[in-house]
Amino acid sequence: LAARPLVDVRVLLTAGPTREPLDPVRFLGNRSSGRMGFALADALEALGARVTLITGPTSLPGPRVTERVDVETALEMHGAVMSRATEYDIFVATAAVADYRSAAPAENKIKKNADELTLRLVRNPDILAEVAALPLPPFTVGFAAETDRVEEYARDKLNRKGLNMIAANHVGGAQGGFERAENALTVIWHDGQRELPMMDKTRLARELAALIAERYQEHHAA
Ligand code: PMT
Repeated sequence: LAARPLVDVRVLLTAGPTREPLDPVRFLGNRSSGRMGFALADALEALGARVTLITGPTSLPGPRVTERVDVETALEMHGAVMSRATEYDIFVATAAVADYRSAAPAENKIKKNADELTLRLVRNPDILAEVAALPLPPFTVGFAAETDRVEEYARDKLNRKGLNMIAANHVGGAQGGFERAENALTVIWHDGQRELPMMDKTRLARELAALIAERYQEHHAA
């Protein structure tokens, strides 16, 4: 039983980037490959969980999950998550969601007539914060991608958004994070923290999944 501590636990997990259209052929995006989220979905399913994966566009195969929902924009990801969130025990936000979208995507391809082009952007909803603010929220795990003061910013996010756990990675430079096969995480919760050093994302995901299971069970028993 201890090898599969999440049997029958329902997990909702976001992964990958979002794409925010500017016109029919262009979008704003980011460097998330989906690797970290897919590996984590696999690892949680291996611990017995029933995982629903909500993913932005990636070129990755798999993973082996109970259900997979493909989305493109932050608003679509928001809709897919919020319509399901109350049915889940754990929510994990691995996706790199665009913070802004075009205020008015052009109906036709934007022409390059002018020397300068100004785009007006508006804020996207914060999916993670909205899930954590539900009246009966699932056990909520966020990620934080920071280029500096990783631990300080991550602990601030944990408290400000009312999360149960946050996994912080140092992005930029040669530090892992986006796109790469390897990553390192500082995992923080209210009364503890653990360093998961640089390793392959598949192994890292197994260690993080075990840690989530541990904290979830302690939370559940409390
Ligand atoms: O996909 P890979 O190439 O493997 O890369 C993995 C990763 C670097 C993308 C991943 O490990 C990671 O850090 N994901 C979160 C990246 C991120 O966008 O962090 P953030 O600090 O901007 O957001 C903080 C948290 O809020 C995240 O859990 C994010 O999913 C969530 N969020 C953010 C904005 C928003 N509108 N809605 C959200 O739910």
